[in-house]
Amino acid sequence: MQRRKLVAGNWKMNGVRASLSELHAMRDAVRAGQASHVDLLICPPATLLAAAVTAVDGAFHIGGQTCHDAPSGAYTGEVSAAMLADAGARYVILGHSERRTLFGETDAMVRSKAQAAAEAGLIRIVCVGETESERLDGRALDVIERQLAASLPDAATGADMIVAYEPVWAIGTGRTPTLEDVAQVHRAMRTALVGRYGEQVGQAMRLLYGGSVKSGNCAELMAAEDVDGALVGGASLKSADIMAICAAIHAV
Ligand code: PGA
Repeated sequence: MQRRKLVAGNWKMNGVRASLSELHAMRDAVRAGQASHVDLLICPPATLLAAAVTAVDGAFHIGGQTCHDAPSGAYTGEVSAAMLADAGARYVILGHSERRTLFGETDAMVRSKAQAAAEAGLIRIVCVGETESERLDGRALDVIERQLAASLPDAATGADMIVAYEPVWAIGTGRTPTLEDVAQVHRAMRTALVGRYGEQVGQAMRLLYGGSVKSGNCAELMAAEDVDGALVGGASLKSADIMAICAAIHAV
């Protein structure tokens, strides 16, 4: 099945209003046709969401980095899926490994957030991935399959859910798994998704790879079967870097 590639940028806790100039540059590059072969998404911090939506002016999409599972209420400091949607977000990243390890998010919480996000009309990008010791112990596939089973909600369509494979040890480290390892995980994820949601939905869902994606390594990574795009951290902060990634995918 032909799945259009998605390049999703995760700005994490980076970006102030001055950073909107990077979004203006991305908007202009997209309008000039530099990313016409991919879907582009940037997920800035929540403080910049509404301004980011205005800045990109419909040239590409803006998303959130997490959400609470309640629509509103007494949850000081939290942001709901409905609030992200209200600010103009179309996507939300859920269960990023930094959320899981630094903020104690469990599979059950990720699943509940994914349900809430769908109710708010957001496309969910649910992240899974093994730690280095789990990979060295030969448990990577088991861990990923367990995370998928427990983090994904029962109701999903091919269009409203995306899964990102992000090996924890590859995030921000400059290290990436071998092409064979990426292909093996993505194949296993595809099989699990088809088993869970049926052939049509499971085949339509996009599977992203994330972890130290750069313009220099992404053509190779994106060429692996069942890799339908990239979740990019550090290299998504600058327009030149993310556009170079989009350009490299062109060659795939
Ligand atoms: P990185 O981060 O590209 O900086 O490794 C990826 C991510 O955390 O999504």
